[in-house]
Amino acid sequence: MALPWEFRPLAGPRVSLELLRPDDFEALYAIQSDPEVCRYLLYEPRTPERVHEVLERDAAATRLENPEDFVQPAIRDSTGRLIGTMYLKLASLDDKSAEIGWLLDPRFTGEGYAREAAALLLDLAFGELGLHRVYAELDPRNVASVALCERLGMRHEAHFREHMWFKGDWADTGIYGILEQEWTS
Ligand SMILES: CC(C)(COP(=O)(O)OP(=O)(O)OC[C@H]1O[C@@H](n2cnc3c(N)ncnc32)[C@H](O)[C@@H]1OP(=O)(O)O)[C@@H](O)C(=O)NCCC(=O)NCCS
Repeated sequence: MALPWEFRPLAGPRVSLELLRPDDFEALYAIQSDPEVCRYLLYEPRTPERVHEVLERDAAATRLENPEDFVQPAIRDSTGRLIGTMYLKLASLDDKSAEIGWLLDPRFTGEGYAREAAALLLDLAFGELGLHRVYAELDPRNVASVALCERLGMRHEAHFREHMWFKGDWADTGIYGILEQEWTS
């Protein structure tokens, strides 16, 4: 595995992944305070103070070296505008595994941007980083996220029933995974 890895921008045909910047606050707040966006996320719609905190934290997360290290870059369109964020967290060095996640501004869904952004991270994970497995955890009711996993070729590996107490009710968790030899961007 080629670790540590220091963040560098990743560019695809229509979107790029770049570190968050202080001037992303307005766009990030609009996304993370939206109840519909947050419906299946672990957090409730965020306050401006909380978005300032996470923006600062995530902008400083630039190095993948140890388990739990993560990057949370902005997804930017061709104009440089923030349209969402991606997430890649090292899970295990021994098992060469990582978790992936995604978040799009609802005004930019339905265009394949999340798929393209996820492909950039999977190319990185299975290429330069030399990882063996990448997985996503989601609420199976989150059909948009399930569909994205399937479009990426991720396998439905597990379904935990009433796995967690989530926003006032029991909720299931789905696990989707993909191995290095299965990934074809
Ligand atoms: C999950 C989420 C990122 C999916 O976004 P998305 O835009 O549906 O995903 P994709 O980028 O794969 O886009 C696929 C759609 O774009 C369409 N599309 C249009 N042009 C396309 C192109 N050039 N290439 C690929 N797909 C294209 C596809 O047909 C598909 O449309 P459909 O949903 O009507 O079938 C988004 O719904 C989201 O941010 N949700 C809220 C946060 C969240 O729940 N995150 C996940 C927590 S587990």
